[in-house]
Amino acid sequence: MFLKNAWYVAATDHEVGRHLHAVKVLGEDILLYRTQSGGVVALEDACPHRKLPLSMGRLQGDEVECGYHGLVFDCAGTCTRAPGLAHPPKPAAARSYPVAERYGLVWIWMGDAAKADPGDIIQVEHWGDPAWGVNRGDAMLVHCNYLYLTDNLLDPSHVSWVHQTSFGSASMIGEPMKTQVNENGVLVSRWMRNVEVAPFYAKFVKFDGNCDRKQHYEVRVPAHAVIKAIFTPAGTASDTEPFHPDIFLMDSYNFLTPVDESTTRYFWFQLRNFSPDDESVSQQFAEDVRGAFEEDRVVLEAVHAGMAKNPSRMNLPLDAGPLRFRQKMKALIDAEQTAAQPAALAMAR
Ligand SMILES: [Fe+2]
Repeated sequence: MFLKNAWYVAATDHEVGRHLHAVKVLGEDILLYRTQSGGVVALEDACPHRKLPLSMGRLQGDEVECGYHGLVFDCAGTCTRAPGLAHPPKPAAARSYPVAERYGLVWIWMGDAAKADPGDIIQVEHWGDPAWGVNRGDAMLVHCNYLYLTDNLLDPSHVSWVHQTSFGSASMIGEPMKTQVNENGVLVSRWMRNVEVAPFYAKFVKFDGNCDRKQHYEVRVPAHAVIKAIFTPAGTASDTEPFHPDIFLMDSYNFLTPVDESTTRYFWFQLRNFSPDDESVSQQFAEDVRGAFEEDRVVLEAVHAGMAKNPSRMNLPLDAGPLRFRQKMKALIDAEQTAAQPAALAMAR
């Protein structure tokens, strides 16, 4: 079960062009392509006649022709031509999905099209700020349910074991965490004072010696994580005072798109408050981040397989944030399903 009335990332912008590109989102097969003027189209990837994927057909101008009997569909999914017939048959239409492009990504609305508002797509602080550098990021397929990824991204403690050579350091172990449930998600955070700078960050921080480090792990509905890393010289930690001039800030945006119940496509990019135009820094970030996320992928795929075989009922205090997010999602999905039932019953009558 997934939350339908939400924006998800369907693809990176460079994956979608003047060709037929098939993706699966929330278990639904979707065809993506660009019109001649550059707009993105998203249609149900099935011809209404015999359900051949439209992605197996041909792009003709701004329309797509089914590869089985030549039915042609426009950008709205309306059948405009059925060879041999004067007029296309009435039920011949493929569902179209609202889409929007933002942050180098193609976003898709999977629920009621009337409720789709691109203004609801997550706001990325500092995007376009000339003082901040961007690592444009990447994507990977992870063979686990998306909620294992949201668990992971609400669990700052895991870095000490999963990412020992990058994000983690031994001095962080045992530091207590604060869990805060917000209207649109859950935030787990902690300050660690006078600790060593973890290996991934050590090559970028401007100061010597120990640091005060903050981990801000936030996941917003439906599955968008904002992970903020703050490193400031030891003794200068503060949530209210102006930042120390040498402070290191990295905001990592992580968008999890359920492909189905056991597969997730993971998209990400990072912004940093230094070296905005240094391509070599972006490149280093890209390589290091991907390496660390591969470490997560291996663990989370094994967790999914293990829990599928034999679910655990044991929880630890560190699971508080992940469990609150799961509760929030369950309530939202249940409410959405309940609201959809009268309409479905009316259609069945
Ligand atoms: Fe991780």
